[in-house]
Amino acid sequence: MSHAVVETSLPDRAPTARGKVRDLYDLGDTLLLVATDRISAFDWVNPVGIPDKGRILTQISLFWFEQMADLIPNHLISADIADFPAEFQALPEVFAGRSMLVKKCEMFPVEFVIRGYLAGSGLKEYTTTGTVCDIPLPEGLLESSKLPSPLYTPATKATDGHDINISPEKAAEIIGESWNTRASEAALAVYNRGQEIAAERGIILCDTKFEFGTLNGELVLADEVLTPDSSRFWPAATYRAGEAQPSFDKQFVRDYLSSTGWDKNSEQPPLPEDVVAQTRAKYLEAYTLLTGKKDL
Ligand SMILES: Nc1ncnc2c1ncn2[C@@H]1O[C@H](COP(=O)(O)OP(=O)(O)OP(=O)(O)O)[C@@H](O)[C@H]1O
Ligand SMILES: [Mg+2]
Repeated sequence: MSHAVVETSLPDRAPTARGKVRDLYDLGDTLLLVATDRISAFDWVNPVGIPDKGRILTQISLFWFEQMADLIPNHLISADIADFPAEFQALPEVFAGRSMLVKKCEMFPVEFVIRGYLAGSGLKEYTTTGTVCDIPLPEGLLESSKLPSPLYTPATKATDGHDINISPEKAAEIIGESWNTRASEAALAVYNRGQEIAAERGIILCDTKFEFGTLNGELVLADEVLTPDSSRFWPAATYRAGEAQPSFDKQFVRDYLSSTGWDKNSEQPPLPEDVVAQTRAKYLEAYTLLTGKKDL
């Protein structure tokens, strides 16, 4: 197992921006989006990384961009290090496999969340009000129940980085009705195809978050697509409505953090080796199930 790449930089240059997971290098009209091995949970990044996680996420996104290419234009130019500027090519052990050269877009300040099943913040809202993002739902749905049809349930980021669910009407106010309609329809189309492909591989796509932007007036699917970081994937074999489902992502991390009594408001305790190994195995399992590939 290779060691985790928690931060990247060039000899004479730090990234233009660091998200929770990605390092961004602004190259003018393009961006190099580098998925590091950082892992976030409860909006905090752990000081310890998960080896190969970034490469797994990038390879999963590439798989989906190809599957969705006829539905919606996307931001990908190339994930081949030979197409990157020379200073990145000089550091293949850092940048290869985990980086995408993408078109720089004007991003919408809305997260395009699509839910096919009831979980997470959607479940929480439904339990108190019978709605999700103010959209009324039938009575009697249980935790993990399949929704009558997939729902567009947008969110925005608060200044502290927290996601806040908003109604589709509010999203239309923020980005304009026409963009909201076009992007949410594209998001539903990508979700629908994604859940069909995942179902063939024994995986339920519970919900997911897309990010869209525009370039020269055209709608572009950007960021990452249908990865374990942006989605809840459940094993279909053990699915049962009425209970929480195991998922292919950070469950070991969340369980560990909860067991330490961490207050969710300060630096996380570093993940121990076994939690790192179990989490890495889950990400790899999702990668292999979805793409059919074993090697990165
Ligand atoms: N084609 C693009 N053009 C411009 N910005 C993009 C493009 N694709 C993705 N981005 C932006 O790049 C950033 C990716 O970084 P990252 O996902 O690590 O940050 P984050 O979204 O703050 O964290 P998290 O995903 O954990 O909530 C996001 O802000 C995303 O909106
Ligand atoms: Mg992100």
